[in-house]
Amino acid sequence: MNKPVLDVLRGAKRVPPPIWLMRQAGRYLPEYRALRKRAGGFLQMCLDPALATEITLQPVERFGLDAAILFSDILIVPWAMGQDLAFEEGGGPVLAPVRSADDAATLRPARVLERAQPVFGAVSQIALSLPDPVTLIGFAGAPWTVAAYMIEGRGGNGFPTAVEAANANDPVLRDVIERLVDATTDYLLAQIVAGAEAVQLFDSWAGLIEGDVRERWSIGPLARIVARLREETLDVPVILFPRGVGKDAARYLERIRPDGIGLDRDADLDWARTALQPHAALQGNLDPALLVEGGPVMREAVDRIMATLAGGPFLFNLGHGIVPETPPDHVAELVAAVRHWRGS
Ligand code: CP3
Repeated sequence: MNKPVLDVLRGAKRVPPPIWLMRQAGRYLPEYRALRKRAGGFLQMCLDPALATEITLQPVERFGLDAAILFSDILIVPWAMGQDLAFEEGGGPVLAPVRSADDAATLRPARVLERAQPVFGAVSQIALSLPDPVTLIGFAGAPWTVAAYMIEGRGGNGFPTAVEAANANDPVLRDVIERLVDATTDYLLAQIVAGAEAVQLFDSWAGLIEGDVRERWSIGPLARIVARLREETLDVPVILFPRGVGKDAARYLERIRPDGIGLDRDADLDWARTALQPHAALQGNLDPALLVEGGPVMREAVDRIMATLAGGPFLFNLGHGIVPETPPDHVAELVAAVRHWRGS
């Protein structure tokens, strides 16, 4: 079967490279906003397999992307473990913060498979609906990033409580991370059983901790999840997105051995080509702000990325998720620019 994204994750070079975009389904699309109005709320959309399927397919159909990423959220795992979660209209997520050993003890990794059943239902519906060459990517948050939201109760403020807990080697954080390692492994395995052909782990807030603290809470738990996925699924590729870690991406690569590494918009591309690309497919890293801008400035940035990375295994993507202000026409322009690229 012809699956460009999977070929690249197994080490092949494709010219032009396959393209998909983090947060490719979402508020920048009028068809998403129309469905969201009808659905009532974001969580309801994630837990309705028919709706989640429809939203996952929207950007794939509109732009002809090479991968579909499951429409869901990284905070479904804490919700499925029993933590209260709400998404406020136009704002971010709000959770009942986990601050004590008693709070942590209420979280139940064993409930995740049952409560997240609609998510796996969506994965199997999407798998049946996708055109053959399009790869279905499942995902989860990395334990550190998810724990940061769970402890803080919300995002957008630099996660001071969670970062302090990390630096203090707090036992409550340890307990939360242990539960997340189990829950996240089960959750990804269930997505794979349902039909996900590759999985991505988002460590969006890896950049908030450093050194040994980063090893303890971000790298170590990810290494355990990926090792367990490898034991149980013979060859489903894993993409890691450790945002904000600079050249420490090499440490993630060495310790975790993912098939692909997502580069954020600040990554040094020449360094990544020599230090990372011989060992993993690279993915990234157009600044989402340039996708809002579009036009020649965006196309020049695309050329620079392609000239540096398209000579090896490479998946074109953004350096972080699409923002709601993005004009959908610019996404079409980006896809065309990547597809028409023939070398510099
Ligand atoms: O990429 C995709 O299209 C798949 C769906 C997806 C969503 N969230 C849908 C979503 C994925 C992969 C995520 C991951 C996610 N969620 C991350 C990691 C990636 C990143 O952006 O760093 C994080 C940190 C979250 C947590 C989260 N969910 C936040 C902070 C917010 C509010 C801010 C925002 O970006 O809207 C959400 C809500 C959310 N997740 C929306 C969507 C489409 C918007 C919900 C709405 O109001 O309609």
